[in-house]
Amino acid sequence: MLFRNRFLLLLALAALLAFVSLSLQFCHAPHHFKLVSVHVFIRHGDRYPLYVIPKTKRPEIDCTLVANRKPYHPKLEAFISHMSKGSGASFESPLNSLPLYPNHPLCEMGELTQTGVVQHLQNGQLLRDIYLKKHKLLPNDWSADQLYLETTGKSRTLQSGLALLYGFLPDFDWKKIYFRHQPSALFCSGSCYCPVRNQYLEKEQRRQYLLRLKNSQLEKTYGEMAKIVDVPTKQLRAANPIDSMLCHFCHNVSFPCTRNGCVDMEHFKVIKTHQIEDERERREKKLYFGYSLLGAHPILNQTIGRMQRATEGRKEELFALYSAHDVTLSPVLSALGLSEARFPRFAARLIFELWQDREKPSEHSVRILYNGVDVTFHTSFCQDHHKRSPKPMCPLENLVRFVKRDMFVALGGSGTNYYDACHREGF
Ligand SMILES: *[C@@H]1O[C@H](CO)[C@@H](O)[C@H](O)[C@H]1NC(C)=O
Ligand SMILES: *[C@@H]1O[C@H](CO)[C@@H](O)[C@H](O)[C@H]1NC(C)=O
Repeated sequence: MLFRNRFLLLLALAALLAFVSLSLQFCHAPHHFKLVSVHVFIRHGDRYPLYVIPKTKRPEIDCTLVANRKPYHPKLEAFISHMSKGSGASFESPLNSLPLYPNHPLCEMGELTQTGVVQHLQNGQLLRDIYLKKHKLLPNDWSADQLYLETTGKSRTLQSGLALLYGFLPDFDWKKIYFRHQPSALFCSGSCYCPVRNQYLEKEQRRQYLLRLKNSQLEKTYGEMAKIVDVPTKQLRAANPIDSMLCHFCHNVSFPCTRNGCVDMEHFKVIKTHQIEDERERREKKLYFGYSLLGAHPILNQTIGRMQRATEGRKEELFALYSAHDVTLSPVLSALGLSEARFPRFAARLIFELWQDREKPSEHSVRILYNGVDVTFHTSFCQDHHKRSPKPMCPLENLVRFVKRDMFVALGGSGTNYYDACHREGF
C-alpha cells in the first residue's frame, strides 16, 4: 500500500514537472499581448577558418551537405533541393553571384559547413514554432513586403540566412523572397561615416596591443608555435592561428605537426585564456563601448523606425532578418549594455520582439532575447523597469528614448544626435 502511494506520488510529481516545463515553453507572453513584429540578428553558422597556419596542411573538412554525416537535420535534403530552384532575381547584386549552399569537398576559406547549415535550420524551425505556429506573426498567405531580409556579401552569411529562412518558412515561394546586400558589417548603410567611432576603435586596438605585450606567457607561446612551423613570430601572429585552431578543436581534427613538433592543447589554452582576459579589460576600459554606441546606432535606429511603423498599423516588414558577423552582433550587445553577454558564437541570435497590449492597444512593449534567453531587464534602458512595473516587458518608449538620446548621453560628450557625436572635436 505504502509502495503504491509512493508510486502515485511520483506519478503526480512527474505530471507536475511535465506541466511546469510545458508552460515554461509555451507561456511566452501573457495572453492579452499580441506579437506585432520580430527583428532577428544572426551570426553565420560554423565556418571553415579564414586563415591558415603558415606551412602546415590545412584541416580537411568536407563542406558538401550529405545526409549520412553528423550533424544532421531532417530538412537538409529538402533544403538543398529547394536551393537548387532559386533564381538570381531573389538577390540584390552582387549576392546573385554567390552559391546558395556550401558545396566544396574541401572547404574553401570561410565557407559555411554542414554544421553551420544545420544550426540555422534549427534556429529557423525554433522561430517557426514560436512566432508562426503559436503567435501567428504572419498569415499563411504572407506577402513579399512582410519580410525584410538583409545580408553581408559573404557566402556564409547569405547561406545562413537562407537556411534560417527555410527552417522558418519551409518551401517558401522564391518569387516572394528578396535579400538585400549590406556592404558594411555594421549594417550602417548610408550613415557609415563617423570619424569619432574610428577614433574609439583605434584606441581600443592600441589597448589590445598593449595588453598582449604585457602577457609574457602569450609571447612565449607564439614564439614556440612559430618555431614549430618555422616562420617569424610576427608572421605566425598575423596569421591569427586561434581561428584555425578553433576549427581543429570543434571538428575533432588533431592540431598540425611538423618535423619540429606539434601545435598542441597547451598553446590553444594560453591563447584562449588571453582572449578571455582581453574581453574583461575591454569591458573595463569602455573604449569598445564608445565604439559600439556609435557603431550600433544606425542599425538600432533603423529597427526602432521599423517598430514604430508597425505600431501605426502598417503591415510591412513584420519579420526582419539581418544575417551578419560577430563584428555586427558584438557592438549591438555592448551598446545595449549587455556586457555580461557571451561573445557571439557561431549561429548566435539576438532578437527584438514588438508586442501590443490588447487591453491598451496604444501601448507597445519590447522584449530582447539572446540565444533564447530573455535579457530585456539586463539592458541599460530597461534595467530597473521590472522593479517598478508588473509588466513582463519593456515599454517601446524606453528603447526609442535610448536610441534617440541616451546613447549619446552615455558617450559623455555634448552631442545629442548621431551627427554631432560622430564629429566631436578634441576627442
Ligand atoms: C575524435 O577523434 C578521435 C580520433 O582521432 C576519436 O577516437 C574520437 O572518438 C573522436 N571524438 C568524437 C567526439 O568524434
Ligand atoms: C534614423 O531613422 C530615421 C527614420 O526612422 C531617419 O530619418 C534618420 O536619418 C536616421 N538617423 C540615422 C543617424 O541613421
